[in-house]
Amino acid sequence: MKCRVCGKEANIRLSAYNTALCADDFLTFFERRVTRAVQKYHLIDQTDSTLVAVSGGKDSLSLWYILNRAGYLSDGIYIDLGIDEYSRVSFEKARLMADRLGRRIYRFSLPALFQKGIGDLSKVMRRAPCSLCGVLKRYLMNKACIDAGYTVLATGHNLDDEASALFGNLLYWKEAYLYKKSISLEGRGDYLAKKIKPFFLCSEREAAAYAILSRIDYVYEECPYSVGAKTLLYKELLNKIEVTSPATKIRFVKGYLERVKEQEARPDPERCARCGYPSYTETCNVCRLVERFGTGEAIRIECFEPAQATATPDISAKADAVV
Ligand code: AMP
Ligand code: FES
Ligand code: ZN
Repeated sequence: MKCRVCGKEANIRLSAYNTALCADDFLTFFERRVTRAVQKYHLIDQTDSTLVAVSGGKDSLSLWYILNRAGYLSDGIYIDLGIDEYSRVSFEKARLMADRLGRRIYRFSLPALFQKGIGDLSKVMRRAPCSLCGVLKRYLMNKACIDAGYTVLATGHNLDDEASALFGNLLYWKEAYLYKKSISLEGRGDYLAKKIKPFFLCSEREAAAYAILSRIDYVYEECPYSVGAKTLLYKELLNKIEVTSPATKIRFVKGYLERVKEQEARPDPERCARCGYPSYTETCNVCRLVERFGTGEAIRIECFEPAQATATPDISAKADAVV
């Protein structure tokens, strides 16, 4: 198996593109796909300041790294869910990257606000940890982005995440969610940040290969509460289809992007009467949680400055050259 670009021994086969590449050419290929997506879908403008939601996993760390290499200088936000060792190690990896990039990282800690992690909080709420976690993460990432003055919030959702979510929404005809998953969701005024997913068309396997080849130290374990999650089953099923029919996932998700309804047509979400952030009810879920279980502390976001100045090689000139 030879690299299609240089003819040397290939390190990775990319069946979806009917090609194989050596390590160096794969890194270039992957970075170009991400920067092209940023440009093609107008994810980040020159006037934007970007905050990356960093979980400590391969996707968000690689995304943070690539955006900074491509000249989209961005900081990070980490949400500590209070999942013991898993959360501690995840933040350690996020900080390592912050130092490598010479960028700032913010942290929001659930135990500081509730004296409970997501496990205990979901028990007292009698709610599945992942669904409660989703509500809190969405709220806190949006709040951090707006409060700290950033205009765009980037997450590391990849092709496999999007294909499995779309598959699940179609399987159960969850039409209310169906058209809310685009590569970019416009913000609203001073209470809803613009959200972008630059890895929308990049597979989980590609993101893992990129992280390993770029020597990015990330958390290998999945969140302990994700065991048995339906999305993991959907990912497995879609990967089985992919083996016999390469490029199925990317066609599925690209087809969705072509059909996705104009986000601008969506009505402005209502605002929570207490905090002013988006809410479907008069008082948002998070304000109600804080009222019931909060320690009385205000929601506080810590800020950590990097330990050293940036030494990240800049690929912005290269990225522009391939447009
Ligand atoms: P997940 O929902 O765990 O598949 O994560 C999807 C994306 O959400 C990640 O790529 C991150 O960008 C973001 N994310 C997930 N968990 C966290 C966290 N604890 N702190 C900050 N961002 C997160
Ligand atoms: Fe949210 Fe696991 S419960 S990441
Ligand atoms: Zn609220």
